[in-house]
Order: sequence, then structure tokens, then C-alpha cells
Amino acid sequence: MSLNDLMPVGASRRDRNEPYSGYYLRDVPDHDPEITHTGPGTAMGEYMRRHWQPVCLTQQLTDLPLALKVLHEDLVVFRDRSGEIGVLHKHCSHRGTSLEYGIVSDHGIRCCYHGWLFGVDGRVIETPGEPPDSRLKENVVHGAYPVKECDGLVFAYMGPPDEIPEFPTRETFDRDDIEKIPFLVNHSNNWLQTYENMMDPVHSVFLHSRMTGLQLSKSFGEIPHMEYEETHNGGGLVYISKRRLPNDKIWVRHVHFRFPNEAHFGTLFDISDKDLFFQRVYVTRWIVPHDDESCTFFGWRFIRDDLPGGDRARIGINSIDFDGQAEGPDYESKQRTPGDWEAQAGQRPIAVHALEHRASTDAGVTLLRQLLRQAVRHETPSAWPTESAIGARARRVDRVNSRFIYAQDSVLTVPKLPDKTEDWSLLGETGRRVTEILYEADRLDDEDRDTFVKAKLRELSSV
Ligand code: FES
Ligand SMILES: [Fe+2]
Repeated sequence: MSLNDLMPVGASRRDRNEPYSGYYLRDVPDHDPEITHTGPGTAMGEYMRRHWQPVCLTQQLTDLPLALKVLHEDLVVFRDRSGEIGVLHKHCSHRGTSLEYGIVSDHGIRCCYHGWLFGVDGRVIETPGEPPDSRLKENVVHGAYPVKECDGLVFAYMGPPDEIPEFPTRETFDRDDIEKIPFLVNHSNNWLQTYENMMDPVHSVFLHSRMTGLQLSKSFGEIPHMEYEETHNGGGLVYISKRRLPNDKIWVRHVHFRFPNEAHFGTLFDISDKDLFFQRVYVTRWIVPHDDESCTFFGWRFIRDDLPGGDRARIGINSIDFDGQAEGPDYESKQRTPGDWEAQAGQRPIAVHALEHRASTDAGVTLLRQLLRQAVRHETPSAWPTESAIGARARRVDRVNSRFIYAQDSVLTVPKLPDKTEDWSLLGETGRRVTEILYEADRLDDEDRDTFVKAKLRELSSV
């Protein structure tokens, strides 16, 4: 439905554009279900289900089960006494009692109501109220999903069992020299708003800096030269921000989105005007819907002693070591110093794209939506999972798509041009050259790639 469909008969476009036009602007058209709805059977919901998704932190698993909603499905997660993790449908296959009231057992979980025991794979192990010769348990299977635990995050695969993809490996995940600290932040809005927020770096200049004081560091307070593009191998996009720093330096930053809901970022703290080559990821996040009106972003903060900034003690549940991310403590604080949570929840539970007036600063959001739409329509094969561990039907794509991450920060010496417009163009050219170098390095393995990129950036920087 378009805005014109909502116009009262006789109302003209001119009426809408005049002051005090609330009467003509009050109706709210539908939102955009193709990329916002994630329930079973929806385009985006089925796309997300083809990928491993984080569902909780390891630290949330105690001796009690944990009830969760993920992609509209009611689930219970538990670690049994043998150490195995189960992700099961929440309601017991017998008569529906919630397994959040179940008893975590040596192997599996036992329903509190009539004692049925379910294994982590959903098999019914015991039906203690039935006669000894009952074969009932062989004829019932309870809903269960495969699980992987990785560095403090618990992932589940909720798609068709014969299309299970390999667990994601990224070059930034398995470096021995970096500590990964898991965290989560809950949001009361559609998942796409939270994902889009990260492809909108200009919000940092306003929401996190000029409007509220300094929630992020000073380096983020200046409007950057921005470019957004699909990654050269498909399956995601990058933004490239460039800012002039003192002493003839240019800060080039790449943020890398991988579909459907994964994103990799560089530094979150002040950047200095010292040369810096290919500083890698500070944070990786996945935006996982509970339903269409709430989601959680899960992730890892990457901490290493020589990476500036960071506070381990602040990283965990609804907490991260930079400001402006989680919900404010009370309504007045939320109004006085809103951050990401308030800005996104404030866009309505599901943002209505037809009412937006997107501007030049929204180029990344527009491209993100367009590429996501192509992906859910199967128009981008490389946006689908890599080779399957089990199923022959799953696609096999270049390993580049599964491994390399382009997120980085570099500070290069590139003398400032006296003409402002020319210098602005120089920022763009420098960013594009750095992107070319990142892509050129795809042919190399991790360590060689690191050395290659740093050497090329040194060449580019007239130190
Ligand atoms: S409802 Fe779960 S065992 Fe009866
Ligand atoms: Fe933000």
C-alpha cells in the first residue's frame, strides 16, 4: 500500500507538504514482511534457519533449564549432567507442559508432569508411567535442534536436518592471540532495525556524540566520507568510512556484514593519528530474532592487551564495554541520554519503510535491504551456506565466502590537499585502494594475508 492509497479522497500531494498536515499524514501503511518477518515458512525466517544462530551464552546454562523464544519458536535450552547441551521445543510431547519446569538429568531433561525423559537429540528415553512393555517411546520424537558451543556462545541450527551447513569458521575467530568474550544485548524491536543500525555509521556522529555527549569516543564524532558496497564475492556488504586526522593522516575503516545477520567491526575506541595497518576485529555480532518485535544481538568482544580500549568486567548480559548500546535504566534516563536501544525501539516495533524519507546518509541501509531481498529470493547463491556437512543438496561455494573478514582499521599518511573538495575525493580514492588490497589478499592464507595487507598498506602510506 502506498501513501497515495491512504490519502483521503480529494487530498492532494500539496496538502501533505504544507504545515499542520497531520490530518493527511496520520495513517500507517504496512511494514515490509519479506525481510522483517522471521517465523516458520517466511522468506527471511527460512533463510536464517539455514545458518547456525547463537541462542544463549554458556554462562546462562545452570542446573536449571532456560526458556527462550528464537525465530518465533518456543524452546528450552539446558546442559545435562553429562555436559551435553540440548535445544528442544519447549512444550512436552506428552501433554504440553513446559520443559522449563523440567529436571535436568544425567542424560537429557525430564518433564516435571509425568516424568518423560528426553535426550538432547529429542529421543524419548523413558515414559515411566507406562507399562514396561510399552513401545510408546519408540513412536514419539520430541523436537530438537543440533547444537554447537563455541567460546561462550551456544549456537543452534534450526533448519532442515539434511541441509545443515558447516559451523562457521572465520579467519578472525581462531586466532590464539585474541581472547573472545561473549555478550548479549536484548532489543524491543524487529531484528532488521538492529541490523540496519550497524550499517548506518552516521548515527554514531549524532546519537552517540553530538546529541548525547560522548557515548562513543571522540573519533566517531566527525561525519566521515562513506561508501557502501556488496563484497566482491557476494554474500554480504562492507561500508568504508574515511576520516581526516591531524598530521596528514587518513583513518580508513571497513565494517563487514555477512548475511543473513552477522556483522564484524573494528575499533570502538579513540583512534590516534599514529600509523596503523590492518588492525582487526573488535566485535562480531549476530542479530537473532525472538519474534518480529524483539531480538537479541549476541557476539564476542575481541580483547588483546595491545588493542587499545576495553573493559572485560563490563562485557556480559545486557552489557558491553562501550556506552549507548543497551536499554537505559529508567524512562527519564532513556529520554535524556537515548542510545541505540531507544533509537531502534523508537522506530516502532517493526519500522514502516513506506513512511521513511531516506537521505544520502541512508545509502547503506538501502543497499542492505536490497541485497537481503535478493538473498532471500535465492538470487545470490553465495549468500547461502557453504558446503554441507551432511546434505548433498546444500551448495558448495568458494571457501573465500566462508572464511575471510574484511573488517579492519588503518591509519595512513596521505598528505592533505589544500583544496577541500579534492581532499574529500582523495579520502574516497584512498578507501577504494585499501579495499582493493583487502580483496587482492584473498588468494593467500591467513598469516600471509596479514603480512601482505600490512606491506601494501605501508606502501600506500607515505610514511
Ligand atoms: S506433560 Fe510432560 S510428561 Fe506429561
Ligand atoms: Fe549505535
